[in-house]
Amino acid sequence: MDGSIESDLGFHRLVGHLANNDLVRNLEIPTKKSLPPRYKLNVEAFVIFGATGQQGGALVTYLLNHPVFSKEYRLRGVTRDSSKPGAQELAKRSVEVVSADLSKPETLPPVVEGAHVVFSVTNFWDNASAEVEQAQGKVVADAARAAGVTQFIWSSLPSIEKETEGQVTSYEHFDSKAKVEEYLPDGTIRLPYAWTDDLTLPYIDINDTGKYLGPALRDPAKWNGRHVLAATAFYSLKEITDTWSRVTGKTVRCSTLDELPPSTGSWFEENLSHRNPVVGEVGYFGPSGPAELRELHAELDEELNTWEEYNL
Ligand SMILES: NC(=O)c1ccc[n+]([C@@H]2O[C@H](COP(=O)([O-])OP(=O)(O)OC[C@H]3O[C@@H](n4cnc5c(N)ncnc54)[C@H](OP(=O)(O)O)[C@@H]3O)[C@@H](O)[C@H]2O)c1
Repeated sequence: MDGSIESDLGFHRLVGHLANNDLVRNLEIPTKKSLPPRYKLNVEAFVIFGATGQQGGALVTYLLNHPVFSKEYRLRGVTRDSSKPGAQELAKRSVEVVSADLSKPETLPPVVEGAHVVFSVTNFWDNASAEVEQAQGKVVADAARAAGVTQFIWSSLPSIEKETEGQVTSYEHFDSKAKVEEYLPDGTIRLPYAWTDDLTLPYIDINDTGKYLGPALRDPAKWNGRHVLAATAFYSLKEITDTWSRVTGKTVRCSTLDELPPSTGSWFEENLSHRNPVVGEVGYFGPSGPAELRELHAELDEELNTWEEYNL
């Protein structure tokens, strides 16, 4: 059976940072020299925004199944509607389910109170508005900072506008996340992903989300301020479709622009359906992306799911 795929193989990155520089100094965050990486005083509260969604949900599963983190963290999952089935499922798995809305700043302090780590993700597509996404990112960072949170993880994307030196400005859902990143006071961890036939792009199995964060959770001081590219590998679209075809037994091929249905004039189509050659030239993570990814992989200690394994 023939199939076709669009190359909306984005990628994301997580930016982690210590939310308050003064707090960091006061607490004397253990360094590698002073304390073993796994040193922890208590079972800590770990607040996960988007816990009912893909990224947050994958992180919840990773932490609950992890032999060490499952004992070190109490998980608090944030949702706008604690009565929804996804939230109730979390509660059944011993996650404390709390209600808050990133668009209602007053709801945030109670859910981050007493937290040690906060994972935050925004859903650009709910409003398709860069302004809303930036506002949400800033208020959650403010709330975490005010609560004295020690480690703050921001699910981000690179600024395509910056990477292409202003030539491409239509990737608002990338640029708006990167702008929030500029607002964050300090520190970093990046997680990414993937997109044309010969252009290789970073690609991730979303279920691996937690594996990229494990090293930073064990040794926050070492990872503070770092961006961590999160991708299994750089794949070309040809590799993706060839593997997909082989594993599923179905013929998967990429549609050409000529084969796409007539445009409906939506924002998404206008801005994202045509691959921008400038983005291809610069590379999704910039020219140093592949080398940075190799460096990151050397520091991970869990096997990542390949595209082939994902399809099995
Ligand atoms: N798909 C890709 O290739 C790709 C690549 C890179 C980055 N991204 C980015 O990933 C983000 C989406 O992440 P995802 O796929 O994990 O999301 P998702 O599965 O669609 O879930 C969205 C989550 O965000 C929560 N949420 C949404 N609005 C909220 C609000 N106002 N207050 C509190 N929580 C809110 C939802 O919780 P409740 O509904 O329970 O309240 C839900 O848990 C987007 O911003 C997108 O740009 C996607």
